[in-house]
Amino acid sequence: MRVSQLWLDRQLTHAAYKTAQARVPVLLGRERKTVRTQIGIVGAGPAGLVLAHLLHLQGIESVVLETRSRKYIEERVRAGLLEQGTVDLLIETGVGERLQRECLTHHGIELRFNRRGHRIDFDDLAGGKTVTIYAQQEVIKDLVAARLAADLPIIFEATDVTVHGFDSAKPSIRFRAAGNPEELHCDFIAGCDGFHGICRPSIPAGVLTEFVREYPFGWLGILAKAPPSSEELVYNYSERGFALLTMRTREISRLYLQVPSDEDIEAWPDDRIWSELRLRTAADGDWKLSEGAIFQKNIASMRSYVVEPMQYGKMFLAGDAAHIVPPTGAKGLNLAVADVRIMSKAFAEFYKTGKTHLLERYSETCLRRVWKAQRFSWWMTSMLHRFDTDNAFDQRRQLAELDYVTSSRAASTTLAENYVGLPW
Ligand code: APR
Ligand code: PHB
Repeated sequence: MRVSQLWLDRQLTHAAYKTAQARVPVLLGRERKTVRTQIGIVGAGPAGLVLAHLLHLQGIESVVLETRSRKYIEERVRAGLLEQGTVDLLIETGVGERLQRECLTHHGIELRFNRRGHRIDFDDLAGGKTVTIYAQQEVIKDLVAARLAADLPIIFEATDVTVHGFDSAKPSIRFRAAGNPEELHCDFIAGCDGFHGICRPSIPAGVLTEFVREYPFGWLGILAKAPPSSEELVYNYSERGFALLTMRTREISRLYLQVPSDEDIEAWPDDRIWSELRLRTAADGDWKLSEGAIFQKNIASMRSYVVEPMQYGKMFLAGDAAHIVPPTGAKGLNLAVADVRIMSKAFAEFYKTGKTHLLERYSETCLRRVWKAQRFSWWMTSMLHRFDTDNAFDQRRQLAELDYVTSSRAASTTLAENYVGLPW
């Protein structure tokens, strides 16, 4: 009996997943439990969880396999800025209630250089679209809660996850749950397991083409018990390197400093972080950086990465499993959501009509948006970071670009429309 019918009847709970298993003898007499579903989803990040949610709303069943614990994914500090389209989708699909209560909505950002701030006004330049501050881990908490509340399967701490048969009619995912070998038979596999996952590397050599741009720097990020120093985000260009002032709540600031990519976090005691932030964000007038106890800090490397195609056989890649953007444009999470929105529509067409038109066009459809977000993220990174300290020509060119972007309506409109999110 196919699990989908069981789910649709809402007759059975998560336990249904338990009882609907068959038993297949494997090595050493241990039995490998097998289960059938429609979409096997590897990874419970934004891509995997939003996909599972959209599929559920269309009556398509899936099982989500996550190698980490629920606690880990709900506490992992990552991005925090959502495009208008991402927020609209979460609200429209019924997982945006807490977001609407707790988020911060911004109608612009500031570009700061030569000790002066210049506001990019989204109301004026981007048709009133906004961006929203709501931490990624809060989005994850809301999606996990919604999935469990609907008694839908998500397996945490799945180990030894391997994918099989996606170049045949019988895709399956093998894994261990609580040490027991299990196999999930499915019609399709959604590779939502991030950059370091197993799905992309499982595609045979020679099929995928990689496009990579490494940056000679990374971001040192901190969370601090300090009320934000400004109402909106401040992107700082300084001869000492880039700095970003962002936030999580009205009490918690999120701040970033450009550091060499091989920097050791031990080299950055709290007082050095604050003095460097003061120097890079200094502005004429009475603006002052608000400081407070730092309770989290890490250094993240920066790269631009795209793999083409994003689909092979019955394997469909989404999010960081297929592309990475430098965080300067705040596109990572939003691109992952855009991918799975396209993927869920394609699966819905297939299950409703048997047509594979959208599935066949999944990769090219996603890549059009991915490359535009790659361009914007590379451009923001190139305009705002110091590449090599002694190339005075480049510094003048960067300042001229900032001057142009903040004094030309055409140029600031380009930034604004990309920042709030290009139309879907
Ligand atoms: N088996 C199961 N799960 C796995 C495996 C595996 N072998 N490998 C990784 N995972 C899980 C990770 O633990 C993580 O929870 O896959 C999930 C991938 O999530 P993300 O890395 O968040 O990737 P994605 O959903 O594509 O979201 C991308 O979110 O993290 C931000 O800024 C980041 O832009 C990025 C966006
Ligand atoms: C964040 O709030 O973490 C954030 C915001 C904007 C960025 C990057 C990160 O460009």
